[in-house]
Amino acid sequence: MIDFLGDWKRTDYCGNLRKEDRGREVTLLGWVQRRRDLGGLIFIEVRDRYGLVQTVFNPEANREAYEKVQTLRNEYVVGVRGEVVLRPEGTANSKLATGEIEVAVKEVKILNPSKTPPFLIEDDEKVEENTRLKYRYLDLRKPGLQKNLILRHQLGKEVRNYFDRHGFLEVETPMLTKSTPEGARDFLVPSRLSPGHFYALPQSPQLFKQILMVAGFDRYFQIVKCFRDEDLRSDRQPEFTQIDAEMSFVTVEDVRRTMEGLMVHLFKEVLGIELKTPFPVLSYDEAMDRYGLDKPDIRFGLELRDLSKSLKGSTFKLFQDTLSGGGIIKAINVKGGANFSRKEIDDLTHFVYDYGAKGLISAKVGRNQWQSTLQKFISDEERIAIDKTMEATEGDLLLLIAGPSKVVNQSLANLRLHLGRKLGLIAEEEYGFVWILDFPLLEYDESEKRYVAVHHPFTAPKDEDIPKLKGNPGEVRAKAYDLVLNGSEIGGGSIRNHLKEVQALLFEKLGMGEEEAKERFGFLLEALEYGTPPHGGIAFGFDRLAMILSHSESIRDVIAFPKTQKGTCLMTDAPSKVDGKQLDELWIKLKV
Ligand code: AMO
Repeated sequence: MIDFLGDWKRTDYCGNLRKEDRGREVTLLGWVQRRRDLGGLIFIEVRDRYGLVQTVFNPEANREAYEKVQTLRNEYVVGVRGEVVLRPEGTANSKLATGEIEVAVKEVKILNPSKTPPFLIEDDEKVEENTRLKYRYLDLRKPGLQKNLILRHQLGKEVRNYFDRHGFLEVETPMLTKSTPEGARDFLVPSRLSPGHFYALPQSPQLFKQILMVAGFDRYFQIVKCFRDEDLRSDRQPEFTQIDAEMSFVTVEDVRRTMEGLMVHLFKEVLGIELKTPFPVLSYDEAMDRYGLDKPDIRFGLELRDLSKSLKGSTFKLFQDTLSGGGIIKAINVKGGANFSRKEIDDLTHFVYDYGAKGLISAKVGRNQWQSTLQKFISDEERIAIDKTMEATEGDLLLLIAGPSKVVNQSLANLRLHLGRKLGLIAEEEYGFVWILDFPLLEYDESEKRYVAVHHPFTAPKDEDIPKLKGNPGEVRAKAYDLVLNGSEIGGGSIRNHLKEVQALLFEKLGMGEEEAKERFGFLLEALEYGTPPHGGIAFGFDRLAMILSHSESIRDVIAFPKTQKGTCLMTDAPSKVDGKQLDELWIKLKV
């Protein structure tokens, strides 16, 4: 028998009741978390967005209500009316915020039954992710996910507060637009009105925000959806959200200070944490040298050291061949690691194979000698020099990799992170912010046989490097910056090319002919001719930020309706087939 809500109005949320409410008559509306039948009494835990409360049905108080609740199952929607009473001595539940009280029920309404859910609505319940995503509405009932989405809401609200206070305007930019190059594949939308033509969903609002600066808006921001058809990882989604911003008449330092202010504001308002500024800074070269990647987790040591110089005269063939072939030799020092077993070291060797390394050389540091395959190939001077560079003392374990610099850096960077986690070296409760500056503007892409932009083609070169653009484009550094938090790139931006000549030269260096540049970015090149102010900005990954602040392991845990690794939505079954008539209207004939 189903009841109607009728004139029942909620007086309180379940999770908000406390012992101060004792004696009050309350009306609660929510879901059945659990029913426990203790012979004489029936206990029902009722849940809403604010938490759980225990309600008690006593056959002597109301026989009819008692009979009715016998039929209640998990996830039924119910209304209960009753009095808040203190729990009997010794039965308080300290794990529950409402644990000191319970509601002695006088009346109950069953508002809607529920099928038996495929999993329990509890955070600790281990459930296969595909099942969670298929029944996302049930998954989202869990307190953990609700907490994440509440945190996300607060972050968004405080982003708006901060930018509003600093004179930024939120301006919406189109979703049906033209391709902007952020380095990924576009999602395309066919046009019915222009047969054979396509819109691209924005990879970012990059060009529109620059145009807003040309239009004199001075300071812009937006919390905005972006779309990139790229291979997915645990911190990537095909549609994700950016906190996007742009400012006129600014330098790299101005943007960095303003955005540090944003981080300070968010951490204070949302987590109650005071961040120290200015954030530390590393040049791109230094980050690569010390950490092997451009998004270092600086919350622990285990830094990489370059041993190429110390081993220049080595008689060891692998080292000779590596160095003469333009490669490098780098190492990390695992303090006290000499007690690693053979099996543990073998496992680390297998670990680095995945990153392209051909091997991992280990050296256990003893007094005046190493225990290592290297021992007989290395002179005392070399060993002493290496121990010094590595700050190695007796009982340490050195791990060396020789090879092309890209492979060595990649392998050791990941090995460093792996060991950092395995050995518990990472100060998990800390927030390790670091700015990475002085990126190269362009890098040579061997497969495409041309230069490509390291950030995007609208990034300005450093003033002093502009003359190198013509002859040595690979040496030009960019006015670009990334903000890294706990080893995750949470934001990136740059000062832009506001001079048409520099922008046109860059397109040329990227192998874009004048015609192609005009066809793709003609509107920007034209706008640059109408008094464009110097300007720059940044975009943060909103989901990534929410992920770190909520200590989530997957980006999907901070997005209400995320996509799977294959880009599908298991709840709605998107993407899906469409009928022939729709395709006809779009002038599309399928090949599959
Ligand atoms: P960029 O491409 O570095 O810069 O993107 C900015 C930030 O967005 C986040 N991000 C993602 N998050 C989740 N899933 C993805 N697929 C994904 N891709 C990127 C990252 C990244 O740091 N227009 C420029 C910004 C600018 O120059 O102002 C841009 O989009 O945290």
